[in-house]
Amino acid sequence: MFSELNRRVLITAALPYVYAPRHFGHLAGAYLPADIYARFRRLMGDDVLFVCGTDENAASVILEALRQGLTPKELCDKYYEIQKDVFEKLAISFDIYSRTSKPIHYETVREFYGNLYLKGYVYPREITQLYCPNCKKPLPDRFVRGVCPYCGAEDQYGDVCEVCGRWYEAWELVNPRCSLCGAKPVEQKTVHWFLKLSALTEDVLRYVEPKKNWRKATYNKTIDWLKKEGLKDKDITRDYDWGPPAPFPGVEGQVIYNWAENLLGYISATKDWAIEKSDPDAWKGFWLDGNTELYCFIGKDNLFFHTILFPALLIAHGGYILPENVIVNEFVTLEGRKLSTSRGWVVWLHEMLESFHPDIIRFYAARIAPEFRDSDFKWSDFMSKVNDELIGNLANFLYRTLTLTYKLFNGEVPDPGILADEDEAYLDEVDKLIVRVERSLENFRFKEGLSIILSLSALGNRLLNEREPWRGAKDEAARTLYVALQIIYKLSILLSMYLPYTAIELRRILGLSEQARWDELYAKLKPGVKIGKPRIFFERISREDIEGEEAKLKVRITES
Ligand code: MF3
Ligand code: ZN
Repeated sequence: MFSELNRRVLITAALPYVYAPRHFGHLAGAYLPADIYARFRRLMGDDVLFVCGTDENAASVILEALRQGLTPKELCDKYYEIQKDVFEKLAISFDIYSRTSKPIHYETVREFYGNLYLKGYVYPREITQLYCPNCKKPLPDRFVRGVCPYCGAEDQYGDVCEVCGRWYEAWELVNPRCSLCGAKPVEQKTVHWFLKLSALTEDVLRYVEPKKNWRKATYNKTIDWLKKEGLKDKDITRDYDWGPPAPFPGVEGQVIYNWAENLLGYISATKDWAIEKSDPDAWKGFWLDGNTELYCFIGKDNLFFHTILFPALLIAHGGYILPENVIVNEFVTLEGRKLSTSRGWVVWLHEMLESFHPDIIRFYAARIAPEFRDSDFKWSDFMSKVNDELIGNLANFLYRTLTLTYKLFNGEVPDPGILADEDEAYLDEVDKLIVRVERSLENFRFKEGLSIILSLSALGNRLLNEREPWRGAKDEAARTLYVALQIIYKLSILLSMYLPYTAIELRRILGLSEQARWDELYAKLKPGVKIGKPRIFFERISREDIEGEEAKLKVRITES
């Protein structure tokens, strides 16, 4: 009966550009919330597929490869491994980490745009593109920089403004310059293929308008965009030879533009997963079945592409499900200043992992998740939140309870006899908190979910401090530790979403299987169950650790 209530859930997290590592802000703003949600729905018993992969066909790949003296393919291979490794270490539980350079992606793009062409959504038009007389190259996208035609931000690329998030054509840039040599471009006539987005404004609006449960900022920005400006037709072919070929009759040597093909990478990644498990049609149950729920997790710089362009593409093609929700996060600043990867003002995940346990990194990322406004990463705040909350509150409660169980009851869950009213009151309070965690997670409020989980262990600490079981009568101590161990048991389930390494260890200590289920939250540990030996979960972070990190940042910023 339970299985009939189970739902099929497809979760995507923004496909990382392959050419640069991921930083802490990416984790807090997309990958970790997506992972927590995937783990939550798995606990619920739903049929979850969590897909991601590298975004490999961007113009920057060509540029970065030139800079490093590699071929684009070599560059992609190198960084793909680095990214995959970081996500694995952080226990981001992707079912597949695919790549948009794979043949399955090219095939998906070919079919998709072939279909759109036949439906009349794609047409050729003569354009005036920018051309560098010095490098003898056309200058689309990242090959050109200039002033954003919408918000006036300086030094923006030729396709998207990183400040206002607008999407425009390279020839709209004010005061353009070639990215490679700095020369002033000339104009050149050529034919490109356009996507008739203007015909889709109403359809996208009809899809978005009822989504009142989306985050307010996401909903309002999307609706504003559609109502105030509507959609403009967009140039979707490019004159370079890196990326999926444009499948339109008469096209010679052009590829599909990165933001017109990368979104389809979610579909190709799902197909890749299906192929890997030797059931090549299994992707259809996710993308083509109206009962599947699709959730996309992204940072705010990707909003337009996911709340407008992606639905527009899927509607134009037909047959695909649309996102149930797009969970858009704000940014994480660093020590009060805007992040700058080029100037080294950034905390790279691979570097952070050299010094800190992945669960510590996940803890802080969830703790300051930029859900409704930008949040600030501060090393001193990192130290105090980890030391006071993760260790002082949570880990300390786990350790105290397990140690006391050893000391007083030979490492077995004690038999509490008949529980007193105060014991029942504690257990009721725990159940109430669990209901609140569930509600937070259903509403994508992951930071709130974590703080409720922390109040569970705070409750446990309060119980121990109040009763002092190491002092009092043995029967009261039995009831106290019985209740405390129930809290630990529930934490072993709840923490599996946020701190998976810790949860697995805890479940091993409690003699439980690795994979928990949500309905086990309403069960109890039985008296007599043998508990494994406790150990210290985390080392406190010292002032010196933090000073080292702060110094690293300062050196990098002065060197740049
Ligand atoms: N590569 C983009 C970024 O890192 C995200 C692309 S998401 C996709 O910001 F779905 F469009 F691929
Ligand atoms: Zn701008």
